[in-house]
Amino acid sequence: MKAVILAGGEGTRLRPLTLTVPKPVVPVVDRPFLAHQLDLLARVGVTEIVFSLAYQPERIQAVFGDGRARGLRIHYAVEETPLGTGGAVKNAEPLLDDVTIVLNGDVLTDADLPGALHAHRESGAAATLVLTPVPNPAAYGLVETDGEGRVRSFIEKPTDPSQITCDTINAGIYVLDASTLSLMPPRENHSIERVFFPALLRRGDLVRAWVHRGYWIDIGTPEKYMQVHRDIMDGRFKPRHGSPFNGAPAAWVSPHARVEEGVELTAPCFVDDGAVIKTGARIGPYSVVGRQCHVEEHAAVERAIVWANTRISQDATVSRSILGRHCHIGRRVHIDDGSVLGDKSMLTDYSRL
Ligand code: GDD
Ligand code: MG
Repeated sequence: MKAVILAGGEGTRLRPLTLTVPKPVVPVVDRPFLAHQLDLLARVGVTEIVFSLAYQPERIQAVFGDGRARGLRIHYAVEETPLGTGGAVKNAEPLLDDVTIVLNGDVLTDADLPGALHAHRESGAAATLVLTPVPNPAAYGLVETDGEGRVRSFIEKPTDPSQITCDTINAGIYVLDASTLSLMPPRENHSIERVFFPALLRRGDLVRAWVHRGYWIDIGTPEKYMQVHRDIMDGRFKPRHGSPFNGAPAAWVSPHARVEEGVELTAPCFVDDGAVIKTGARIGPYSVVGRQCHVEEHAAVERAIVWANTRISQDATVSRSILGRHCHIGRRVHIDDGSVLGDKSMLTDYSRL
């Protein structure tokens, strides 16, 4: 059995970060996002994976290569122009065999994939969809089911409140039998949610729902991206590879970072390899200071995610924000409340944002 990871979207809602770092490889604490999905697939024994790419594929290939370093075989199905979530699966078809697991490449979850797969096989369904209940379903694809766990209808991103008839949404994880892929038009842009799944129902195929009630998040917006970090640091999501945040809240500093005397570190926070934190600086809770960053004297970082190679100069404050790589934040700059700066941003001394 193989898996397809849909990772070709442009990540528009995470711009400007995704202008240079595609969403599948944005860092989540200390590793590229998709590494978590590979862990999830390992739980169900899948070690051969097709990455379905369209946007900046070379940047993703550069991170994962052929997968051998992770004990995997990774193939790439690259679209010349984006084919949509359905066209992308069809494009990967020559690399697939009997049953395939399809994952949206931007969801982080501890869903029990072995359970979903078992349910799929037991029921004899053509497709099994993992659903999850969320408080604000309108931003997602709603999936209605009957009392016996059969999918009845799909309402993708409803615009009218009257269409919100359930709280179970498509969690972006599917188990598909090979027999279903013939319903997908080849080389044609189409949506798996809006076109393919409704077509399966019309054909009379059994489409089964498997409801996941544990951790689930789509990291597609800056707010969710920051929330993922809080969830990992609070232990609400436990990365499978082991995490410094699995137990009590930790102020985790890489042995390859340099933290000078008189620095205040408040847990939970994370300081990565090669970072330098100078005297009097403060690293507050829910902060990540990426590789090779410099946080100078009396600067403060709190509830902020700072990507690699960024410099935060003396007396600057960065809170509740995300900074890309190679930024230069001048002295006494103040950045607050949901600011998102792309790679190489420069803020002159005393700027306020
Ligand atoms: N290869 C490829 N080609 N991948 C694509 C393309 C494409 O043209 N378009 C989107 N993707 C990938 C994205 O990279 C992402 O990982 C995944 O498909 C889903 O696309 P999003 O753009 O993130 O969709 P969404 O979050 O608005 O909605 C989807 O996910 C929700 C759960 O997070 C839908 O599947 C909803 O039904 C679902 O509830
Ligand atoms: Mg998404």
